[in-house]
Amino acid sequence: MSYIQRARTRAQALAQAQGVNILAIESSCDETAAAVVRDGRQLLSNVIHSQIDLHTLYGGVVPEIASRAHVEKIDAVVQAALHEAGLSFEQVDAIAVTCGPGLVGALLIGVSYAKGLAFALDKPLIAVNHIEGHICANYLSASDLQPPFMCLVVSGGHSHLLRVQEDDSYALIGCTQDDAAGEAFDKAARVLSFPYPGGPKLDALAETGDATHFILPKPHTQGRYDYSFSGLKTAFVNLTHQMKQRGDALPLADLAASFRQAVVEQLCDKAMLAMQDTGERVLALAGGVSANHLLRQHMAQACAARGYMLYMPELRFCGDNAAMIGAAAFKRLQHGQIADLSLNANPSLRLV
Ligand code: KG4
Ligand code: ZN
Repeated sequence: MSYIQRARTRAQALAQAQGVNILAIESSCDETAAAVVRDGRQLLSNVIHSQIDLHTLYGGVVPEIASRAHVEKIDAVVQAALHEAGLSFEQVDAIAVTCGPGLVGALLIGVSYAKGLAFALDKPLIAVNHIEGHICANYLSASDLQPPFMCLVVSGGHSHLLRVQEDDSYALIGCTQDDAAGEAFDKAARVLSFPYPGGPKLDALAETGDATHFILPKPHTQGRYDYSFSGLKTAFVNLTHQMKQRGDALPLADLAASFRQAVVEQLCDKAMLAMQDTGERVLALAGGVSANHLLRQHMAQACAARGYMLYMPELRFCGDNAAMIGAAAFKRLQHGQIADLSLNANPSLRLV
């Protein structure tokens, strides 16, 4: 029997089993991460090595530097995840890895490592879409969450409103027409001279600012549930440049608060519109931007006012991590979806 035949037989048994330990690997951008997740919900370990220090100097992620740092760290990160979980390689039931979307060189490190490991250990290999990972981070924090539900995915590269269907597939409800929400936060933060990644820093400073100080434009989108952040970003850049040209001191906190308010209002308004139109009653947030203080507050208030259930990942599961990849891999395993050794990185992999 070949590797893939043995893996298929093993995966079939695992799909029905309990106590399934998945070792998950994530290397799609600037975090080298590994985690062990049991039955898609129980976290046994979660190790993240962030490369932020390496990239801050350049004002953004440098793909070549990211790939090299992944190569250097991946082995130690995986070993640490197993050690933290108290498991040996042999006690792991399957290997999961992010295969896209992301930076191709960065993804390839994780994919190659996971393929080698799966073959050497003779265990099934599960390919995970990074976006599905973000969505499934919610299963780690909420043991009662089950599809169907609406999910707002807001990260550095994506802003999607999706419906998670009963069968764990995804239906696209709306998406950004231009920039992603995280990208918009990072660009606004850069204009205010915050180092990369500026989103969290802008969020922290906005806490002390007056969000009504500057009125920023509301976008017009083609689709009823679509987003757009590029007009807002341009208006913000122009506003700050004009102030700089006049020699005015920038009211940083008020600028940050006004920008954050405009982004959050748009995210929240469209999500509520979609919930209302579709009759959905459960909403989940996902992705790096779901760590945003105002977004969490605003969504909590909006959902409470309408009687909707709101799920938000714990802060440690909002940004990139491998635990969420383990949670998503469990879903794929339950649907009998395993990868063979021809698995490749796909930088523009789509979820829907
Ligand atoms: O999901 P993520 O870690 O990586 C991608 O898959 O893209 O998201 C990273 C993005 C960055 O743009 C970062 O600035 C943004 O999430 N972000 C935030 C906050 N924390 C992270 N944006 C606004 N407020 C935050 N608190
Ligand atoms: Zn991500």
